[in-house]
Amino acid sequence: MSNKTLEDLVQKLKDAQNVSVLTGAGVSAESGIKTFRDPDGLWAKFNPQELASIDGFMSNPELVWEWYMNRVDIVNNSTPNDGHFALSKLQSIIKDFSIITQNVDGLHQKAGSVDVIELHGSIVKNKCFDCGKKYDGDIDTSEKKIPRCKSCNGLIRPDVVWFGEMLPANAIRKAQQEAEKSDVFFSIGTSAEVFPAADLPHIAKQNGAFLVEINPNNTVLSKFADLKVADTSANALPTIVEELKKVI
Ligand code: OAD
Repeated sequence: MSNKTLEDLVQKLKDAQNVSVLTGAGVSAESGIKTFRDPDGLWAKFNPQELASIDGFMSNPELVWEWYMNRVDIVNNSTPNDGHFALSKLQSIIKDFSIITQNVDGLHQKAGSVDVIELHGSIVKNKCFDCGKKYDGDIDTSEKKIPRCKSCNGLIRPDVVWFGEMLPANAIRKAQQEAEKSDVFFSIGTSAEVFPAADLPHIAKQNGAFLVEINPNNTVLSKFADLKVADTSANALPTIVEELKKVI
């Protein structure tokens, strides 16, 4: 890890042509949405193979659907936090600023961010398990019966990426392009353990980006960061915005 400072970061942001951020579950933690790999995270309590894989859905679709509908309720009742709002503010200050997220909760968009690249899909969207067609019917999250596809009568599933599935091709391609041309790249609230998203900070750094990690804990990425901000995103990001505003 290098010994760059917040001042260095602000200077880099001031001069940057292109800035990208990769966010993960930690960014939504302060909105009351659980992360995955923290000690109280979802994967400490639930089995991802059972709940977030094709095999899991095929063997017990009702269980998977109910688990996701519960998460949809949580997301629908949550609001963006100061970290989401600060990123939206940064996007309005910096001309070429991309938000790449692994989150499926839509909170960046609720905070006003635009053109968000959703690598792992969206929990409030659905599609047919059989034919893949998008499902636009109303969803009653308390209804245990899984809706059926209007075209082929297949079961409807959440439009998220499950373990073993490919990421949406456009999203990952765009994310890689943004990472390659970034002058500053942020990895925020992610354990940086799930690929291919976890490649993005390395792609950025290999192409010359100043790499910043915002995470109260250390991750496998920390030692590669030019600047490690060991704080929560809702604390750290508004400070960065304020400091940047002083110099532009
Ligand atoms: P993880 O749960 O793996 O990591 C969350 C990270 O957020 C951890 O490194 C925490 O230290 C950090 N963190 C916790 N609270 C924070 C806060 N307030 N501010 C900043 N950081 C905080 O979540 P992801 O890295 O997003 O994929 O997980 C990646 C993917 O694995 C998810 O998209 C999901 C999961 O399985 C799929 O479901 C396909």
